[in-house]
Amino acid sequence: MITKQITDLLNQQVNAELYSAYLYLSMSSYASSAGLKGTANWFFVQSQEEMTHAWRIYNYVTSRSQHVILESIDGPPVAFESPTALFEGALEHERKVTAMINNLSNEAVTAKDHATQVFLQWFVTEQIEEEENVSDVLAKMKLCGEGSGGLLLIDNELATRVFVPPPDLTGV
Ligand code: FEO
Repeated sequence: MITKQITDLLNQQVNAELYSAYLYLSMSSYASSAGLKGTANWFFVQSQEEMTHAWRIYNYVTSRSQHVILESIDGPPVAFESPTALFEGALEHERKVTAMINNLSNEAVTAKDHATQVFLQWFVTEQIEEEENVSDVLAKMKLCGEGSGGLLLIDNELATRVFVPPPDLTGV
């Protein structure tokens, strides 16, 4: 049995993942309008991944015979100071998401909800990768500086990112 408190927190996490998708789509659009097509691609793929995070939680809540309550999604920022600021914002956001996942895990432990603890392990591991991916790009951006050929080199690298649908996410 999944408690109402855990269900509510999982619903909040669905909303947070959908907001993440919104945020990264906004960042993608900003990058595209700034002529950084590779950066736009990187954030577009990131937005797609966030949708799969929301679906993963949706599937879990549904599988536990609970109702997913979809709330309004806040509008994300639409203007950013620089390409570096995009990745600084993304890292700050991912750290917030990590804190939410950790809090959810703590509550699942307190509720002795072993199934949800096991389910959340995927997200605990995923957040390590999420923060690392953003940190890696941010470090390169800071090293190369903006307005240089270095930025275009990084942009070319970011153009190679491809969205891979998770094979274990096959719908409800
Ligand atoms: Fe779904 Fe980037 O955390």
